[in-house]
Amino acid sequence: MSDAALQAIAELKPLLGDRIVTSEAVREHHSRDTSRLKPHLPDAVAFPQCEEEVQAIVRACAAHGVPVVPFGAGSSMEGHTIPVRGGISLDTRDMNRVVEVKAEDFLAVVQPGVTRKQLNTHLRDTGLMFSVDPGADASIGGMASTRGSGTTAVRYGTMRENVLALRVVTPDGTVIRTGSRARKSSTGYDLTHLFVGAEGTLGVITEVTVRLHPIPEAVSSAICHFESVRSAVEAVIATVQYGIPVARVEFLDEVAIAATNSYSNLDLNVAPTLFFEFHGTPNWVAEQARIAEEIARDCGGADFRWSTDPEERSRLWQARHDIFWATKAIKPGYDIYTGDICVPISQLADSIIAARDDIDASPLTGQIIGHVGDGNYHTAYLIDPDNPEDLAEAERLADRLVERALAVGGTASGEHGIGTGKLKFMRQEHGEAIDLMKRIKAALDPAGIMNPGKMGQGG
Ligand code: MLT
Ligand code: ZN
Repeated sequence: MSDAALQAIAELKPLLGDRIVTSEAVREHHSRDTSRLKPHLPDAVAFPQCEEEVQAIVRACAAHGVPVVPFGAGSSMEGHTIPVRGGISLDTRDMNRVVEVKAEDFLAVVQPGVTRKQLNTHLRDTGLMFSVDPGADASIGGMASTRGSGTTAVRYGTMRENVLALRVVTPDGTVIRTGSRARKSSTGYDLTHLFVGAEGTLGVITEVTVRLHPIPEAVSSAICHFESVRSAVEAVIATVQYGIPVARVEFLDEVAIAATNSYSNLDLNVAPTLFFEFHGTPNWVAEQARIAEEIARDCGGADFRWSTDPEERSRLWQARHDIFWATKAIKPGYDIYTGDICVPISQLADSIIAARDDIDASPLTGQIIGHVGDGNYHTAYLIDPDNPEDLAEAERLADRLVERALAVGGTASGEHGIGTGKLKFMRQEHGEAIDLMKRIKAALDPAGIMNPGKMGQGG
């Protein structure tokens, strides 16, 4: 451990006591995220309980030039929380209080460690919900930091649309407020959205004001399989163009369906498949499903099955959320290398077909799933952790995926973010704007202590 880290830890000890930890097991837990990326140990892990403690940690680290790496639930997918240059992993686990729910204003104020499921449990009796659902029970601070989204973004938006205001400890230890409770504002630089998606490189989020949405009176789900990827994607585009406000529309390819059948004990036809969800009044969800069925049939979809049965619906979505584990179970002991891109929806069918062709021409096994209403999809390649050739091949496939997305006006990541995994594509995607991002980083964090080695420094 560096002398600087030792000094910062010694300074924080009287304030944090046993909430600043240097044990191997705790550091190990904070050395990784869910990605395939190489872990790196922090020098210590701090568990602040309030904003003042976050401030003290950041100030001590700033004084000694020690990195600070914010850590939420550890469910990020591109190495965001890996302390690649050591320092202090700042775990927001204990900042887990729902500060306020203002039902009439459709908003809630939470500390950053509150998880999305925890907030929804808290909201149980209000008739409102927090809509963003990345699958994992991520922390809301982490979701804001990574501009996370997931299956419901097509209807309710990503964290970009659902964060109204923030409190942030900046790299010099100052606390700032960004945004307000108003639905709209035309004052000032949009600092809220500078920090949303900054992946902890510009400061530590200590409070998030999020939008809430009414829980729909009725929810129905549907499932439909198609002869080809193209016809499934055409059905999605036509449904959205018709003005059906689908709440979720998820694509699963044959490999994903086969894996789900065996892992989640389902008997779905092994074919390109769409899972739908509709929200509204009972009549309205029935009508939405009827129109979607008609459109799907016109596009060659078969066996459209819809249901309002909550148990069936939750089994279906649980299966969708368990895809990661279902894919892992195809080859026990193998690791998963994930890809994540987003393209304009007109390019989606070609993009998925090219990704599938690439996998079929490769020795690796892989599947494709997608939040197709947004033009966003993921690939997952299974790699033998002891075979470097598998890793190289997965990297080649994932790189081709991004190259093709960028060539048609898409982005290197729809929702999994940059971390360290996608840094190499940033200049290609953003051009000279990358230099402006670096100047912003240098202006806000001149000593480069906030999650160093990531956005604003590389690319
Ligand atoms: C999902 O869509 O399930 C999440 O983004 C996680 C994943 O890709 O495995
Ligand atoms: Zn996803």
